[in-house]
Amino acid sequence: MIRPILKYGDDVLRERARTVDALTPEIDRLVGDLIETMYAAPGIGLAAPQVGMPLRIFVVDLSVGRDLNGPIVMINPEFVEREGLQLEEEGCLSVPGFNATVVRPSRVVVKGLDRQGAEQRVEANTLLARAFQHEMDHLDGLLFVDRLRGIKRDLIVRKIRKLTRAGKW
Ligand code: NI
Repeated sequence: MIRPILKYGDDVLRERARTVDALTPEIDRLVGDLIETMYAAPGIGLAAPQVGMPLRIFVVDLSVGRDLNGPIVMINPEFVEREGLQLEEEGCLSVPGFNATVVRPSRVVVKGLDRQGAEQRVEANTLLARAFQHEMDHLDGLLFVDRLRGIKRDLIVRKIRKLTRAGKW
């Protein structure tokens, strides 16, 4: 089921998401919905808080469904390693229409559970490393806009406020 994606300004996006205690059928359904919603958007990553569920789950697929290996599902993810530096343009399905250059580590290793509940450890570089960090931020109530310097952030926030007032957000 495709779920509505919450936008900047919604309080759920600002919560620290809770750890998933058990991989119940409801959690599996949520994972399925996250994948379906991400592909429909289309996007390369989606975190559970973005569909109003403050749980530590995200899905990433740089190929947006074209790769037969399917999406990476991360449940209760943690960084094991983070190093290097990259500066690239970034956007977010919860901040549609805006993007900006965000500074992030260029290589990360993330561990967590997969959809079946098995421990997994994934090493990521460049775009995948960026996607993991972006989605991990969502689990901590952060959006890419928060990682921008003052003037750039203020400009985006002001435009969103204006759109909100006009009923266009
Ligand atoms: Ni995002």
